Amino acid sequence: MTESMKAWRRETYGPASGITLDRAPVPQPRSGEVLLRMRATSLNAGDVRLLRGDPLLVRAAFGLTRPRQPIRGMDAVGTVVATGPQVIGVEIGDEVVGELVGGGGLAPYAVVPASRLVPLPPGVDVAAAATLPIAAGTAWQALDAAGVGIGGHGLRVLVVGASGGVGTFAVQLAALRGAEVWASCAERNRALVSRLGAVRTFDHRREPLAVIPAGRFDAVVDIARGIDLRDLRRLVSDDGTIVLVAGGGGPVLGPVPRMLRAVALSLGRGPRIRPLAASPRPEVLTALLSLLAEGRIAPVIAGVYPFERGAEALARMEAGHVAGKLVVRVG
Ligand SMILES: NC(=O)c1ccc[n+]([C@@H]2O[C@H](COP(=O)([O-])OP(=O)(O)OC[C@H]3O[C@@H](n4cnc5c(N)ncnc54)[C@H](OP(=O)(O)O)[C@@H]3O)[C@@H](O)[C@H]2O)c1
Repeated sequence: MTESMKAWRRETYGPASGITLDRAPVPQPRSGEVLLRMRATSLNAGDVRLLRGDPLLVRAAFGLTRPRQPIRGMDAVGTVVATGPQVIGVEIGDEVVGELVGGGGLAPYAVVPASRLVPLPPGVDVAAAATLPIAAGTAWQALDAAGVGIGGHGLRVLVVGASGGVGTFAVQLAALRGAEVWASCAERNRALVSRLGAVRTFDHRREPLAVIPAGRFDAVVDIARGIDLRDLRRLVSDDGTIVLVAGGGGPVLGPVPRMLRAVALSLGRGPRIRPLAASPRPEVLTALLSLLAEGRIAPVIAGVYPFERGAEALARMEAGHVAGKLVVRVG
């Protein structure tokens, strides 16, 4: 096998304009890891945070002065081409889907722990599968944390920030679980969000959440940035739950102060506020791939880019306002 590859890299933290297609060594799988020949990745808000090292707190975990992994792209669909020692349950030639925590997907080859991979079901579109691991996985975990489980019939849920990657899946999954879904997004995305299953939509610029009568919801999933916690709290019933998915916040600690305030607010009586830290959950990804294969969820794909235009895709993600997901086909 070739020992080097051309990958989209940025050695220092900064904007997408600084990523370049450079030679890099093909990574070697260590114990428990496999090497994937990448077929597709999709982009997430987290890729932009890691690219820019913003907030600074991100750098404590991913590299103080420069990113330890200079290649972005955390969702992976690929073919297993090599296995490290002590890999169980995954074989060379398997077509798989999974999450590359920390990145590495905007490259022809990437390594990933075998335990994070699940089989790509036959006949499932590669680009559609690439949208699932982080965005749909986060939406699933947010709904679980909100108490909107399978059979959420009769629950009324508000999804704030419904048009992005996580939001478009949150609306579909909440509706699929039987909830009555209300959603806030930009005016231009209201029709899209209604098609995904929202029974009522709001233009977040012209109709602030303050226009909604108090106590209307059993759960709120907040995927937008910077909404005041008191405004969210007013919307849910006393035994309801608010799940905070969104990042945002200041340049140093990001969402951490808001999360701490949420915990403090939850100590007294009234709605619970739960900050979400989604993690790779292979069993959830398997369930999502089944729903995709059965046509019960349909990713909203705003653009599919060939590998050569990976920098353009990342710059579009960085600019924001993408309705749904951006996919980069690597193979
Ligand atoms: N907690 C976790 O474990 C976890 C996991 C994954 C992602 N996240 C966070 O979740 C957020 C979404 O991620 P993503 O990948 O889905 O990003 P994304 O695709 O960029 O989606 C963000 C969406 O939020 C909308 N929005 C922004 N402000 C809004 C407001 N005030 N009201 C309504 N909508 C608003 C944007 O729509 P416009 O077009 O109107 O701008 C955009 O569609 C990010 O903050 C990310 O960091 C957290």
